[in-house]
Amino acid sequence: MKNVLILGATSDMAQAMAKKYAAEGWSLTLAALESELLDPIAGDLRVRSGTDVQALAFDATDFSNHRDFYESLETKPDAVICVFGYMGDQILACTDFDEARRIIDINYTGAVSILNVVVEAFEKRGSGSIAGISSVAGDRGRQSNYIYGSAKAGFTAYLSGLRNRLAKSGVHVMTVKPGFCRTKMTENLELPAALTATPEQVAHAVFQGLEKRRNTVYTLWMWRWIMLVIRHIPEVVFKRMGM
Ligand SMILES: NC(=O)c1ccc[n+]([C@@H]2O[C@H](COP(=O)([O-])OP(=O)(O)OC[C@H]3O[C@@H](n4cnc5c(N)ncnc54)[C@H](OP(=O)(O)O)[C@@H]3O)[C@@H](O)[C@H]2O)c1
Repeated sequence: MKNVLILGATSDMAQAMAKKYAAEGWSLTLAALESELLDPIAGDLRVRSGTDVQALAFDATDFSNHRDFYESLETKPDAVICVFGYMGDQILACTDFDEARRIIDINYTGAVSILNVVVEAFEKRGSGSIAGISSVAGDRGRQSNYIYGSAKAGFTAYLSGLRNRLAKSGVHVMTVKPGFCRTKMTENLELPAALTATPEQVAHAVFQGLEKRRNTVYTLWMWRWIMLVIRHIPEVVFKRMGM
């Protein structure tokens, strides 16, 4: 039975991914910051799917512990999905470096720290799949969320470089760029329904994308074309748009 390690497993997207992978017959290793929140999620999945589910504590910012975390896994995963993230408060982050650093550390530094360890093991084994949940916010910096966006841009570039380096190694790396998705992270935002994915749609796209060894997946699909247009708006016009 194949095993998937989901990092940030209490997130709404991650829970949908766990259900999808369990339904496809995979065993699950779920890792999250708050183990009291994770335990009931893992228990429910065990009962409903009958699959083997491990629940573990994991802090994306506890960098020095990442190697021990991976080495202590009873079952080494066939696939790793890096879902954790933190939107943070952009206005606060402009004046409070602790908030800016938290956004950067969770979305970028933490992802690099744990994935470097995963990649080392996958490369030695000559197999494995990695999906990183980045964001369309990383495709172009905007005034409303450029600290989060720049951390996601860094994560996107990291995944791209990793994919390039590992192209001949048997290890597959996929970048996932959700547009809007209805989750805890966006519960206070008004989102346009036609451009907003459900966590289940993202989970389906991640599963299919990894199965088909895709490079980059946008959810929903139209975000690829929206971001193509946004990336090509001349800077002089973009400044006037005040996005
Ligand atoms: N929702 C969207 O519209 C959207 C769009 C583009 C990209 N994304 C990305 O999609 C991913 C999933 O987000 P979501 O929308 O499902 O939101 P979410 O429910 O808020 O998920 C974020 C998850 O990250 C976890 N996390 C935060 N800090 C952590 C840390 N230090 N160590 C480990 N885990 C930590 C959170 O755990 P706690 O709840 O315990 O803090 C939570 O489970 C994120 O990477 C996000 O940036 C979301």
